[in-house]
Amino acid sequence: MTVTKDQILGWLKACAAEFAAQQDYLTDLDREIGDADHGLNMNRGFTKVMEKLPTFEAQPIGGIMKGVGMTLMSSIGGASGPLYGTFFIRAATSTASAEELDLAALIKMLEDGVAGVVMRGKAEHGDKTMCDVWWPVLQAAKEAKDAGSDITAALDKMVAAAEEGAKSTIPMQARKGRASYLGERSVGHQDAGATSSLIMIKALAATVSGS
Ligand SMILES: Nc1ncnc2c1ncn2[C@@H]1O[C@H](COP(=O)(O)OP(=O)(O)OP(=O)(O)O)[C@@H](O)[C@H]1O
Ligand SMILES: [Mg+2]
Repeated sequence: MTVTKDQILGWLKACAAEFAAQQDYLTDLDREIGDADHGLNMNRGFTKVMEKLPTFEAQPIGGIMKGVGMTLMSSIGGASGPLYGTFFIRAATSTASAEELDLAALIKMLEDGVAGVVMRGKAEHGDKTMCDVWWPVLQAAKEAKDAGSDITAALDKMVAAAEEGAKSTIPMQARKGRASYLGERSVGHQDAGATSSLIMIKALAATVSGS
């Protein structure tokens, strides 16, 4: 079983739909400890991705990832534009000519993306960022692969890890981004970027399982 290019395109469309539907929710999370723009940012970015998609959707998966990354980079301001932009641009490295991804290739793609976010944002474990979702997701994916799981089962585990990861940011004190200016007052709120990452992982799992 693999994730096909069509499923990758379906995933991007699902992300766009989710970010449109959940714009206010994400913005409310960012209002608590940030500047109330994360939902707006993600919706604007993925709306632009949908506009631009016809110009790169015929390319292999890597070309699509790169197109998404460049679009997010130029259409989202603030911290999350360059971070998610880098995520997708780096995710293009190992998938340049890929038309489908097996579980190992999917993990590699996401791992490269997360490494790009870390290179750019220098987040560490427990800093209360999107990485506190992506690290446990990668861990769960690798464990599922080692256990011989298929992609659907692995994605179920990845969603569970993402949900846990997003929740785990609630008691954390932010050490990156605007939320870090609040010091201890950032404790007790779920991180907005961790939540948008959770939404992306859920959308991937739903697209691949066909639900
Ligand atoms: N250095 C970083 N590494 C990883 N993720 C980060 C970093 N800084 C911020 N983030 C993520 O970006 C999210 C905020 O994105 P948003 O779209 O609101 O941009 P922003 O308002 O410019 O960001 P911020 O207020 O954090 O500077 C945070 O919730 C966090 O998950
Ligand atoms: Mg913000």
